[in-house]
Amino acid sequence: MAVSPTVQDAFNRHINAEFYSSYLYLSMATYCESIDLPGFAHWMRIQSREEYAHAMRLIGYIEDRDGRITLLPIAQPPIEFASVEDVMQQTLSHEQHVSTLINRLYAVAADAGDVASQVTLQWFVNEQVEEEKTARDVIAALSMVAGRSDALLLLDREMGARTPSAPTAA
Ligand code: FEO
Repeated sequence: MAVSPTVQDAFNRHINAEFYSSYLYLSMATYCESIDLPGFAHWMRIQSREEYAHAMRLIGYIEDRDGRITLLPIAQPPIEFASVEDVMQQTLSHEQHVSTLINRLYAVAADAGDVASQVTLQWFVNEQVEEEKTARDVIAALSMVAGRSDALLLLDREMGARTPSAPTAA
């Protein structure tokens, strides 16, 4: 069954939010490079690519449902941040915002009686739980570092060891 125009439009708006997330984390990566934290920059570049993959996964889904994709303009992300702690706090706030958007999208699908969309979105609901947890864990690690440059160097190395997660079926 083809996706309804209401659900299709809501997905198109959310695809834009995922592309914005990719843009935001890429901007954070360049900021982290600028303050000589290459490990955090690496971590943010992987995060950026994962957000791009989320958008592509949703595009694939809407195409499978015989829907039409509308690529909306991507807003400019912030360029400057106060510190790496600020970067991670903004990451957590952003992920909490995206969780709200996913919940709203899920509600649109539920109101339309669109079971396939609800099932597709369950993966995103779980992903948001993981992403919020990861951001909180990094914030906790940064608070333990508490400005000690030797400890920050070690944490940066640890962030630099992040490997991309295995691609998931779109
Ligand atoms: Fe794709 Fe971090 O939300």
